[in-house]
Amino acid sequence: MQTFMALRGGGGAGRWALQSLLLAIIVGTLWASVAARTGPAHSKVVVCYISTWAVYRPGDGAYSIENFDPSLCTHAVYAFAGLDITQSVIKSLDPWQDLLEEYGKGGYERLTGLKRSHPHLKVSLAIGGWNEGSRNYSTLVANVQQRQHFVHQVSGFVRKYNFDGLDLDWEYPTQRGGSPADRENFVSLTKELREEFDGHGLLLTSAIGAAKHVIDQAYDVRQITRYLDFLHIMCYDYHGSWDHKVGYNAPLTAPAGDPLSVQHTIDYLLELGAPPSKVVLGLPFYGRTFKTVAQGNVDDASDGVGFQGPFTREDGFLGYNEICRILSNKTSGWSKKWDAPTSQILAKSERNVFTQDVSVVTFDSSRSIANKVKFAVQKKLAGVMVWSVDTDDFLGKCELDEDTFADFRLVTNSPRRLNQNYPLLRTINEATTFALDELAADEVVVPDDSENEIPHGNNAAAANVVSLALPISFVFTLLLSLRH
Ligand SMILES: *[C@@H]1O[C@H](CO)[C@@H](O)[C@H](O)[C@H]1NC(C)=O
Ligand SMILES: *[C@@H]1O[C@H](CO)[C@@H](O)[C@H](O)[C@H]1NC(C)=O
Repeated sequence: MQTFMALRGGGGAGRWALQSLLLAIIVGTLWASVAARTGPAHSKVVVCYISTWAVYRPGDGAYSIENFDPSLCTHAVYAFAGLDITQSVIKSLDPWQDLLEEYGKGGYERLTGLKRSHPHLKVSLAIGGWNEGSRNYSTLVANVQQRQHFVHQVSGFVRKYNFDGLDLDWEYPTQRGGSPADRENFVSLTKELREEFDGHGLLLTSAIGAAKHVIDQAYDVRQITRYLDFLHIMCYDYHGSWDHKVGYNAPLTAPAGDPLSVQHTIDYLLELGAPPSKVVLGLPFYGRTFKTVAQGNVDDASDGVGFQGPFTREDGFLGYNEICRILSNKTSGWSKKWDAPTSQILAKSERNVFTQDVSVVTFDSSRSIANKVKFAVQKKLAGVMVWSVDTDDFLGKCELDEDTFADFRLVTNSPRRLNQNYPLLRTINEATTFALDELAADEVVVPDDSENEIPHGNNAAAANVVSLALPISFVFTLLLSLRH
């Protein structure tokens, strides 16, 4: 204040300099408040995987970085990069799509470039995925020199393309040709990456398998959670055509004694010592498909293959954008049934007169997604993750569900949307806000000295507004007082 007084009494040049300075502060503060509003308006994370090969899908299935809407996610994950085990380095799996070199399309930099218009967005690069297998990762982590080389190289690689971090998608340590030592060596890898990344402020996350036997064998949960910022739990593929019977892809709950449910996976990880604030619940934007000569109900024997969709073209798998088109088509002959205990939908075709087959798909509707978001909020998890945004109805071609918030006590009308596209991602953000409100209403307010606490959770946004408003009004008052 003394400096201000001195300047006020001083010459015009000093006042001009001070006014410019204050103006710069105002502009900076306003810009920061705008920047804070480029993402979701709640306090949970929404981690959005993009399977970048979706760009090769035909017709309306083709998804490029330009289709991504960064305002609906807090984190984006570019999937996938690969491992070159001969050099112990991370490498692009599709240099033409990923890189700019040799007239490439520069996907890495197109995605990380979205941070300029959406400063809230954090962008990670994922290494691994199902097709990369497990064996080469097992080899890498078993050797301390190779590990060190990889850690150093990957740190430079992610920074070179302006990523904010690395997501480990090794599926899975100790499995699929891995070795029992992977469990311990994976801890070493995360520890050494953490030490390197801390020097550069980089995020370190990992996709985590949901099956109990995978969790038991692959992960020392207590140790890896020390070094990871978030664990992205892949809570899907609980049932599929490989079972040779019809089942739900991602049931929220299962009968006692059946460990194959979202609830069981999350409760088990928390029990093993994973802090809720680091656990991110994975949601599938796809369903699992079956063919059966029976009626097409759960547990009916099926052919082990399923069927494929016109965009994703993979047996046993249908994107939500493919499913919702079939169901929006009134002449397709498909019917659907909501299952309350699992929060899943089973949809089936009429019997094919030639093959005698019934086609079945089990999947997450927007109501399923909303209920799982509520579950994540009730468990006080960090938020949710989606695999993957490229199979949401990103073009907005389908009718919107009307029962999305049927299981929410405080929601009477679905919120109006300015856009029809991304129904599942929009549901996540709406459901997060609603679920936080419900939770706040449920939690008994005990009179205490809480006004002295730092605001947290849902109140953080309001606190930000106050913390911005105070300096702004202060600066305005000063400016006015400077103009005689
Ligand atoms: C593992 O590395 C070898 C040697 O570079 C490579 O030929 C193989 O394709 C890799 N495995 C997978 C599943 O990518
Ligand atoms: C709707 O389904 C019918 C019967 O399967 C099919 O012939 C028609 O092409 C579909 N319409 C659209 C718009 O996909």
